[in-house]
Amino acid sequence: MSDQNNDVIIELKSVSKRYGFGDAESYALRNFDLTVKRGEFIMIMGPSGCGKTTLLNIIGLLDKASSGEYILAGKDVSRVSAGKKARFRAKEIGFIFQNFNLVPTLPIIENVSLPLIYSGYRKARRLRMADNILEHFHLREREYYMPYQLSGGQQQRVAIARSLISNPSIILADEPTGNLDSRNSHIIMEELQDIHAMGNTIIMVTHNPALTTYATRVINMLDGEIDTDIKTVDDRDLPKGSKNEKVSVKVLPNRDNVEMEIISDTEVTVSGENVSMKEEPEEKAEKPAEKKASTKKSTTKKKKSSTKKGGKK
Ligand SMILES: Nc1ncnc2c1ncn2[C@@H]1O[C@H](COP(=O)(O)OP(=O)(O)O)[C@@H](O)[C@H]1O
Ligand SMILES: [Mg+2]
Repeated sequence: MSDQNNDVIIELKSVSKRYGFGDAESYALRNFDLTVKRGEFIMIMGPSGCGKTTLLNIIGLLDKASSGEYILAGKDVSRVSAGKKARFRAKEIGFIFQNFNLVPTLPIIENVSLPLIYSGYRKARRLRMADNILEHFHLREREYYMPYQLSGGQQQRVAIARSLISNPSIILADEPTGNLDSRNSHIIMEELQDIHAMGNTIIMVTHNPALTTYATRVINMLDGEIDTDIKTVDDRDLPKGSKNEKVSVKVLPNRDNVEMEIISDTEVTVSGENVSMKEEPEEKAEKPAEKKASTKKSTTKKKKSSTKKGGKK
């Protein structure tokens, strides 16, 4: 992955999404063509109902196009099995939503570690990785707080940490600042800017034209189609470099025997078994517990050194 910076990572060819039949048929996306290069930071704008969320969900493999072709990281994913898609998604894509979508009954650290339940790592290791990334976001001292104990801005930073923990190559954000005041919006945008500068590809939906200054490309949509598409940064000048190096989380081994399917924001299946993310998923995905990439040498930092449970403010 290191030597293929700024190559094409997403390619949609004449992708359509239809709803309804006959007279009631309507298009959320219509013959949509899009080529995204690694390292682009794309902002998608357009009136409500023009298909922005549909587009992100198709790119993120949460939804399926009615017709057309989708090449993701060089692989045609339009016709692959649900299980393969799930694996792809777990490995390559991080999501950030407008309403943060943290699991309310889990402490921050467990929320952040959730995407790792498909990694095959044991819980202790997953928590260590979550602890590590929360430190980067200056949220370590709150890692045993519950989501409701954090401000909206903090919750969204937790969600960003969660989106990054599997070291994906693409971050998809659907109006991530939609529920935040301007100060917190700014903080979130700074985080996304950092993540982009590390070489990650970001596609973000926003209603706020002021935020487009962060983008390298701005696409305006209208009625399921591209209205305007403007690159403000030349492809040659897109950030290069390995992804997420600052956030010392290693690329996870791809586990072929664990398959994940996201059913909704709070429900997934792991290897065909339904897991509600409202409950502690525990060691569900870890039958063949092996620590492949045994990181003995990894600095076994003392976790939650300063505070524990709800600690200080
Ligand atoms: N499950 C669905 N059933 C029928 N129509 C839908 C469904 N989801 C979205 N749509 C329609 O698709 C269009 C695009 O929706 P969406 O992608 O959510 O727009 P946006 O995010 O730009 O507001 C809208 O007209 C919406 O009503
Ligand atoms: Mg939307």
